[in-house]
Amino acid sequence: MDSHHTTLALYALGAGALTTSLVRLKGRLALSKAKHRSPTGHARMARRIAAMVPFYEYDQRRFFRADDAPDDVAAARETGFMRLSVLFARRYAETARLTEEIRDGVSDLQFTDAYRVPFQFSRLVRRHLPAAAFVQSSAGVTVTDLDGNRCYDLTGSYGVNLFGNDFYKECIDRAVEQARDLGPVLGAYHPAVADNVRRLREISGLDEVSFHMSGTEAVMQAVRLARYHTRRTHLVRFCGAYHGWWGDVQPGVGNPVPARETYTLNDMSEDALRVLAIRRDIACVLVNPLQALHLNANAPSDTALVDSGRSAQFDRAAYAEWLRRLREVCTQRGIVLIFDEVFLGFRLAVGGAQDYFGVRADMVTYGKTLGGGFPVGVLCGRAALMRRFRDDRPADVCFARGTFNTHPYVMTAMREFLRRLDMPEVRALYVGLDATWNARAAQLNERLRAEDLPVQVANLSTVWTVLYTSPSRYNWMLQYYLRAGGLALSWIGTGRLIFSLNYAQADFDAVVERFVAAAKAMRQDGWWWADPVATNKSIRRNILREIVAHRFRKPG
Ligand SMILES: Cc1ncc(COP(=O)(O)O)c(C=O)c1O
Repeated sequence: MDSHHTTLALYALGAGALTTSLVRLKGRLALSKAKHRSPTGHARMARRIAAMVPFYEYDQRRFFRADDAPDDVAAARETGFMRLSVLFARRYAETARLTEEIRDGVSDLQFTDAYRVPFQFSRLVRRHLPAAAFVQSSAGVTVTDLDGNRCYDLTGSYGVNLFGNDFYKECIDRAVEQARDLGPVLGAYHPAVADNVRRLREISGLDEVSFHMSGTEAVMQAVRLARYHTRRTHLVRFCGAYHGWWGDVQPGVGNPVPARETYTLNDMSEDALRVLAIRRDIACVLVNPLQALHLNANAPSDTALVDSGRSAQFDRAAYAEWLRRLREVCTQRGIVLIFDEVFLGFRLAVGGAQDYFGVRADMVTYGKTLGGGFPVGVLCGRAALMRRFRDDRPADVCFARGTFNTHPYVMTAMREFLRRLDMPEVRALYVGLDATWNARAAQLNERLRAEDLPVQVANLSTVWTVLYTSPSRYNWMLQYYLRAGGLALSWIGTGRLIFSLNYAQADFDAVVERFVAAAKAMRQDGWWWADPVATNKSIRRNILREIVAHRFRKPG
């Protein structure tokens, strides 16, 4: 090559490299613009902040005066607290005794117990208001503990309980009968699998099905296949969305190692769409439609209820439009759109979120309620995406199995669930579902407003979250007044109430009365006294000051 040509070649190379760098830079910039401004949107920052927060706690005096309440208010709080403590000790004696007996040996119990309320208050709450971990029976919309206390069940069994516990007991009984002849034989299928595959293909509108043992695994499989078929590395999830506890879908706090191939983007944002439109490394987008209730926020839990900043609001039309646009860009870019319906599938509509929002996904995960009371995860997908091998590369397989996949008892329980789903009386539960539950939320809100209580609820159908309308450091106490009032809550307290569809109006009215009475008792005991100049911001600022002071306190 003469020097002229060499120069030209070098120019061409330089221009090529420059273009590549510019494209990369554009991608990077778009990505940083598409992150949510909160720490939840920045995995590394969230992990660093979490690692910096020191433990400290309030002594008994400060416990009742964290907001500098006057002495008479603090005294009223303390009296109320001790009254509850005596009530709990008497009412939950046996349940609490057994809980205490096993606490040291059950790490999950220690974790949930420590994280029911903001950590500064946690130890005293654990000592005086111990959570009882056992129940012995369920019936209708109630559960009964070891001491015979019957409570309205608002836990929803993490979302599994859609049709009432009796429904699942029947599914399990029938399942056991149908699987008994085969027993626990694995590998070869029970005939129930054939029925389940047929029905799941109809429901999902997708070609193929794979069975797993949990929702987490179904999500893992969806993402693995998306990566395998697109030959791209990254998954996109939206800020705050839960998709199980697998590392790649928990890039921030909770995961000790960085999830380098996960992008966490701002939900319902133009910037996120832009990232999808220009980046070439994105294999799939995971959507948990539950986020429509609290965009970009983690699942609401009372451990984070340090002020009254929790917010939630559901706009079906706006979210449907967002999904439609997401669908469009994924189609254009060959990105696999995965709806994670492990939580909401079957709760919003028989056809799940796809039907409810009118948008089709390439893959859908289901779980929880679909197992008819047994553990399960299911992935449905388009044939081209579900395939675990390549015709032209026989050695390049995408291996994913699991010993207990298609367990006969799980499959027969699932068949029962799906069979019952088609019964007229079950279908009837879906008629006017949103209208019913929106009206019930409005009913409770109206009562709370009429009593001038600083509490409201927001809902996405039967999934509710409790909101607090004036600044307070003590909202987390409401969960204990609600429990004292005979309402069973899950460990995240007032963050999430889940109703089963078999709540009759009379049951619901009883819940409303108990809820309002609990909130009134809490107010009566002074917890919602507020410094007139306090704001959520000033509360957070004060806590930050405490944290900084403890962090840099000299030892000794
Ligand atoms: C949307 C979603 N995906 C996945 C999972 C994980 O399911 P599992 O707990 O069965 O592993 C959950 C569980 O809450 C979920 O809500």
